[in-house]
Formats: sequence, structure tokens, C-alpha cells
Amino acid sequence: MVELKINGTARQLPSAAHTTLLAALRADGLTGCKEGCAEGECGACAVLVARADGAGVRWESVNACLALLPALDGAEVVTSEGLGTPGALHPAQEELAVRGGSQCGYCTPGFVVSLAAEYLRPERTPGEHGEANGFDVHSLSGNLCRCTGYRPIVDAARALGTPVEGDPLAARRSQPAPSARPTRLEAADGTFHRPPTLAEALALLAAHPDARVLAGGTDWGVDVNLRRARASVTVAVDALPELRAFETGREVIRLGAALTLSDLERRLGDRVPLLQAWFPQFASRLIRNSATLGGNLGTASPIGDSPPVLLALDAELELVGPGGVRVVPLRDYFTGYRQTVRAPGELIQAVRIPTPLAPVTAFHKIAKRRFDDISSVAVGYALRLEGGVVTQARIGLGGVAATPLRAYEAEAALEGRPWTAETARRAARILGGTGTPLSDHRASAGYRAAMLEQSLLKVHWETRAEVTA
Ligand SMILES: Cc1cc2nc3c(=O)[nH]c(=O)nc-3n(C[C@H](O)[C@H](O)[C@H](O)COP(=O)(O)OP(=O)(O)OC[C@H]3O[C@@H](n4cnc5c(N)ncnc54)[C@H](O)[C@@H]3O)c2cc1C
Ligand code: FES
Ligand code: FES
Repeated sequence: MVELKINGTARQLPSAAHTTLLAALRADGLTGCKEGCAEGECGACAVLVARADGAGVRWESVNACLALLPALDGAEVVTSEGLGTPGALHPAQEELAVRGGSQCGYCTPGFVVSLAAEYLRPERTPGEHGEANGFDVHSLSGNLCRCTGYRPIVDAARALGTPVEGDPLAARRSQPAPSARPTRLEAADGTFHRPPTLAEALALLAAHPDARVLAGGTDWGVDVNLRRARASVTVAVDALPELRAFETGREVIRLGAALTLSDLERRLGDRVPLLQAWFPQFASRLIRNSATLGGNLGTASPIGDSPPVLLALDAELELVGPGGVRVVPLRDYFTGYRQTVRAPGELIQAVRIPTPLAPVTAFHKIAKRRFDDISSVAVGYALRLEGGVVTQARIGLGGVAATPLRAYEAEAALEGRPWTAETARRAARILGGTGTPLSDHRASAGYRAAMLEQSLLKVHWETRAEVTA
């Protein structure tokens, strides 16, 4: 059994090791949340979860189709049914209804949840995001609607005011969050653990070399749903304090591998402009509310978006195992297709970014859609310039080889040269020939190479005034 508070009521739900929150809610009669895609793409399954935010709670929207129920043991969840009733609609429901934001209604509960999460965002202030009510319409980027069209939905978002006095979910924000409790659930399809300490997590991984490490579950949840993947042992690491560090020191910025991308985005603000440029291009708010850096680097996908950015930032990884912590430069981490130097039983503990940061940075993600898409090619840049000369260049690439790459040759073609159009053109030609891009359903090899070349020319074009000024 898994214990949850759902829509304000404590519940015990039967669970296997791979039961999703969506399946459990629907089996319990809460059929507002829908299954559209079962892979985090449509948002029809969105629910609110109460997450710790300082001494209180932040309501965050997540994809219930990707969340494993045992990972939510002890959590507090609100579904569209818990937001309002037919006689007393929540403002998000009311505005969608009166503005014609719902036709077949399949996507509507998911939109209501994402609207409610943004409605409840404590920092929302008039004028923010260029909106009179401060509503970030990108908070809806993980929700798809196939029939209404988005204008009435955005109208509803723009019409939302601030929570009224006595709004129960707004009031809940000032009370302590439920803590992620240690969990052990044995079922026919496997055993699920949330160990309370790092030592116990490492002991479990040592005892079960095939164990699946689980952080936000946005990769693993897709495998569970679409590929019927099952792990005999799952070890959830999302609550381990060592993996949740956040430090911004004078020489290094340390980001815990299990912090969600939304958490990092909020806490870093504009401290690392390259990450600030990157976060909004990663998936959707729904996904970023669960996805972690540890998970992105743990998959070692050649099209993962954090490696190009972190390679440009000269990041290092802290790997923790039974023998202690070792620090590995990210440039040495990837060894082959989805292979890394991480030993079995080791966890990524944190990402370290050295400071001071290079002042000229850019992130280019070339994908079929502007948002919520996997990149065909991704490029991160970090350049230092002195007197108009490039003194240091770091370029990280994704999508052009079996592993993420540093573009060493293009970097060498920039370093020591004036940051001119001629230098950029020369280096861009070299960059275009970097890696061994494939042709697949996302892009042809030729397109990928051309995009690399254009990308560097674009960086030069956009920063040339800054340099000559
Ligand atoms: C709709 C959708 C859109 C997406 N868009 C993007 C995108 O734009 N860019 C992108 O790069 N990715 C994208 N992804 C992929 C995914 O969201 C990311 O890879 C994410 O960072 C994974 O983090 P997680 O915490 O959810 O990982 P999980 O699913 O929990 O884990 C992923 C893997 O990493 C391992 N792992 C997790 N944490 C650790 C750790 N601390 N140490 C060692 N191993 C660990 C796990 O064992 C597992 O194998 C998308 C996924 C979906 C479903
Ligand atoms: S069902 Fe589509 S995102 Fe969950
Ligand atoms: S109202 Fe039909 S999918 Fe959105």
C-alpha cells in the first residue's frame, strides 16, 4: 500500500513497484486525469503535488503518467476534481468554461491543473512575462489540445487574478510540506526502495547491480509505459540530502544531481546566463518540475540537452560510490553510446561549475518544434574575450555523434584570434565538420552539419556589437 493525501483526504492505494500515479488515481475513480500519450508529451494526466519550498509548500504540476506511485509515498496530490466542484468552480475551471477553452474536454483537466499551478505560483506579479497578471503562458507548454485551439485557453490564463483570501491551496503554501518518507514496497513486479540515507542507497546498489536508479522518472517512466520495461529493484534517490545540495561559492557552483530543473531554474535566476537560456528550451514546465540533471546525465543520451551546456561551462561531476566521492570532468565522462566512466553502484551526486563564468555564452537548440521537443542538434558556447580577441572558447555539442562532444578543433580555431566575421567563418566551417552526424527521422546528417556551422555564425553576429563596444 502507498499512503497519499489526495484532494485533502488521506488515502491508502494498492500499488505494484511500477504502478503509475495516473493508473492508481483512475482506478480510484479520479478519472479527471486522462491518459493521452503515456509519455509526458500531452499533459492530459497533469496533477498538482505539494513540494517543499523553504518552510512551506509550492504546488507544482507533474505528469501523473510518468510518476511511479511508490515514489509518491507520503505525498500530497491534488487532481482537477480537488480544485473545484460543478457548483463552486476553481477560477482556472471557471475561466476556461466562460472563455470557450474546452470542446471535447479531454485535455481540459490537465490544462486546469497547469493553469492552477501557475495561478498559485507565489512569485507571480503583474507585468511579469509581459502579461498584465504576470501569467507565464509557457507554464502551459506541456499541455496539448487537439480541438479547441489555444487562443481561448490563453485568454483564460490571462484572465486569472490572484487567489482570494481563504483559497485553501494558497493557504496550504504556508504550512510545512510532507516529507519524502523512506519506503520499501515489495511486489510481484519488483521491489521499490526509497532509502533514507546515501549509505543505504549505495549499499542497495552494491547488493543489486541491476537496480534501477530513479530520480524524476521522466526517462524511466516512458520506458515503463511504452516499452514495458521493469526493474527487479528500483532505488529512488530524489530525497537524498547529498544529492540535493545547492551552493554558489566563489570558485564553484554546486548543483545537486537530484534537484529538479524547475528548482534549479528558480534558485539560480540569472546567476548562470547559459543555464538561464537553456532551461526554457528543455521540455515543458510539467517535465522540468520532475526532471533532474542527474537523470539527464545518467541516461548519457547523445541528444540530452544538458551535456552541450555543461561541457561549455567546463563542468565536473561528483560521482559517489562505496569508496567515496571522485570528481570527473564532464569532457571525460562519456566513453561511448550511452556509456560513461560511472562505475556500477556509483551515483552522480552533484554537478560542479567553476567560476568566474565566461562572459559570452549562448545555447542553440535546433529541433522540429520551438518548445517541448528533442533536439536534432544542440550547441552550448562559452567564450572569454579580451581586447576583442578570443582568449578561451568552450563549445559543447549534442546530436552529432554517439556521445556529446567538445568541439576542440573549432575551439582552437577561435582561441588567440580576433572575434571577427572572418574568424567566425573559419571556425564555423570546422565546427560544421565536427562529429559523425547521422541521418534519421529528425534531421539529415547534412542538415545537422549545416546547423552547426550556422550556429557559430549566429553567435558571432549576435555578440559582435558587445565586443566592439
Ligand atoms: C516529454 C519529454 C520531453 C523531454 N524533453 C527533453 C529535452 O528537451 N531535453 C533533454 O535532454 N531531455 C528531455 N527529456 C528526457 C528527460 O526528461 C531528461 O533526460 C531528464 O533530465 C531525466 O531526468 P529524470 O530525473 O527524470 O531521470 P530518471 O528517469 O529518473 O532517470 C533517468 C536515468 O538516469 C539514471 N539516474 C537518475 N539519477 C541519477 C543519479 N543521480 N546518478 C546516476 N544515475 C542516475 C537513472 O537510473 C535512469 O537510468 C524529455 C522527456 C520527456 C518525457
Ligand atoms: S498522458 Fe500524455 S503526458 Fe501523461
Ligand atoms: S478540448 Fe478537445 S483536446 Fe482539448
